[in-house]
Amino acid sequence: MDGTFNENDLSRVVAADKAHVWHHLIQHKPFEENDPRIIVEGKGMRVWDQNGKEFLDAVSGGVWTVNVGYGREEICKAVYNQMMKLCYFAQSAGSIPGALFAEKLIEKMPGMSRVYYNNSGSEANEKAFKMVRQIAHKKYGGKKTKILYRDRDYHGSTLAAMSACGQDERNAQYGPLRLISSACPIAWSTASTSWALSTSRVATSALPPPTPSKR
Ligand SMILES: Cc1ncc(COP(=O)(O)O)c(C=O)c1O
Repeated sequence: MDGTFNENDLSRVVAADKAHVWHHLIQHKPFEENDPRIIVEGKGMRVWDQNGKEFLDAVSGGVWTVNVGYGREEICKAVYNQMMKLCYFAQSAGSIPGALFAEKLIEKMPGMSRVYYNNSGSEANEKAFKMVRQIAHKKYGGKKTKILYRDRDYHGSTLAAMSACGQDERNAQYGPLRLISSACPIAWSTASTSWALSTSRVATSALPPPTPSKR
């Protein structure tokens, strides 16, 4: 294919997608018979596919990420302006939006003082695991290594995050995974947490809100 693209020729996009894109979280076998869905445009809470079919997007981009809605002009302008001014620099240096947004976030998070920017929830957990491992190395000479998670927990799709996942059906084909974590099959309580933290090899516990047990 050459680089040109006629906006009305979505069949070409479908063909390129079918031939070259590996989608996440879905089976590709049905694409042998049917076309994959291409989301072409979004406005507010609605999106449209390649056939003009309209959908109410109640899950913010399929994975809860576009929760401000589609087509927000003020956001597009702010992104454009920043891209023109400075599109990227490694976090080893600061940036104007990075510093000011961190200040705003911290105002909303009592007890916290610093923000570490990541690209995803999985990556945030990887970083958190590394932080507690590093603290455990400094404080306990590397002897406390385990991180507890709860039954039915989900923490992301990277290997360390999966090893702290309490949903065995998600992990079945990717093991061995128990790289860093130990299951905490009992319902969480202050008592069970302080017991766990006092045992010899536990570095810390993953701490999202409790997930209802489906077992
Ligand atoms: C509690 C929790 N942690 C981590 C993640 C992973 O986030 P991401 O998909 O951005 O990697 C999710 C995603 O649903 C989540 O619900």
